[in-house]
Amino acid sequence: RMPILEQCFNLMDFEAVARQVMKKSAWAYYSSGADDEITMRENHTAFHKIWFRPRVLVDVEKIDFSTTMFGTKVDIPFYVTATALGKLGNPEGEVILTRGAKKHNLIQMIPTLASCSFDEICDAAEPGQVQWLQLYVNKDRKITQGIVEHAEKRGIKGLFITVDAPQLGRREKDMRSKFQDVGSSVQSTGGHDVDRSQGAARAISSFIDPSLSWKDIPWFKEITTMPIILKGVQRVEDVLKAIEYGVQGVVLSNHGGRQLDTAPSGIEILAEVMPILRAQGLQDKIEIYIDGGVRRATDIIKAVCLGAKGVGIGRPFLYAMSAYGLPGVDHAMSLLKAEMEMNMRLIGAASIADLNPNMVDARGLVGH
Ligand code: FNR
Repeated sequence: RMPILEQCFNLMDFEAVARQVMKKSAWAYYSSGADDEITMRENHTAFHKIWFRPRVLVDVEKIDFSTTMFGTKVDIPFYVTATALGKLGNPEGEVILTRGAKKHNLIQMIPTLASCSFDEICDAAEPGQVQWLQLYVNKDRKITQGIVEHAEKRGIKGLFITVDAPQLGRREKDMRSKFQDVGSSVQSTGGHDVDRSQGAARAISSFIDPSLSWKDIPWFKEITTMPIILKGVQRVEDVLKAIEYGVQGVVLSNHGGRQLDTAPSGIEILAEVMPILRAQGLQDKIEIYIDGGVRRATDIIKAVCLGAKGVGIGRPFLYAMSAYGLPGVDHAMSLLKAEMEMNMRLIGAASIADLNPNMVDARGLVGH
């Protein structure tokens, strides 16, 4: 009854299969968004408000959409973003994403709340393969310092501090499933007790420090030489602040619609941010990424046109991994590369350098 892998023609198809085959509680954890899930839906539909302005009669025989992210060359401008609890979907967990990322020359962001241990995920990488770390900041800064220093020692090339989750959002689908075996699915809560009555997300997140603030940023710069990136920035004022504080990047993101409902989508924020950065001559001071709702190569291209260095993709790889394991993740990444090649040709862009705001009509976005 389950469709064979070759019947998955796009990233949405993996979601449909995963929904059928996954354990109910696992599906609830992966697929849920906060409250009414308005932001979660908008993340994807916001891309539909942008139209291309294709160029014709451009030589597009050879297409190269490789780019760099904090100095690392990647095949295509997306990375595998951090998503907690990989073993809910597949008993092997996050190392499957490590292998998929290697095969496609992409970067994987390792979550603080991975099911596999941090070292297992590092060990699964091939020599030279670049990984980043997503950091939830512990109330006990000694624990956080230990994690950061260990990550640097293991060769992690970017520290993504999650700033949109001082308290975990209410994902009601997840809460209703009253997740039972969360204790066995996560390794790194720092020894804090888990409360199983509130769904998987809330059960594992009580260690996160809600007092984290801009004042802490200089401390991170003291304890590490890794690039520091703020994940979950949602307004231009905070991007400007991030530049002031000297961090190397921001991810414009609402956590896949899992935190503040009716928060704006990453692509909307990007459309607000970039013209202001350009007007102030700040566009080269920081690398800007977005995530949330990216499902098609056209979404990636639109983000890059509007000024993103790249995008993060979360759920689709979880679904591919849950439904088909590594071959599923591999196939999902291949599909995006094939879509990318075709769509770059069709809009008349031979390389990433050809993607600029003039290639899209983004007047339909609120922030524009
Ligand atoms: C996430 N995300 C996330 N972010 C983070 O900083 N730390 C985390 O532990 C998690 N965990 C997590 C679990 C699951 C199941 C999902 C779906 C998402 C958010 C993630 O990094 C990213 O912002 C979104 O997933 C991007 O949206 P899409 O691609 O899933 O639509």
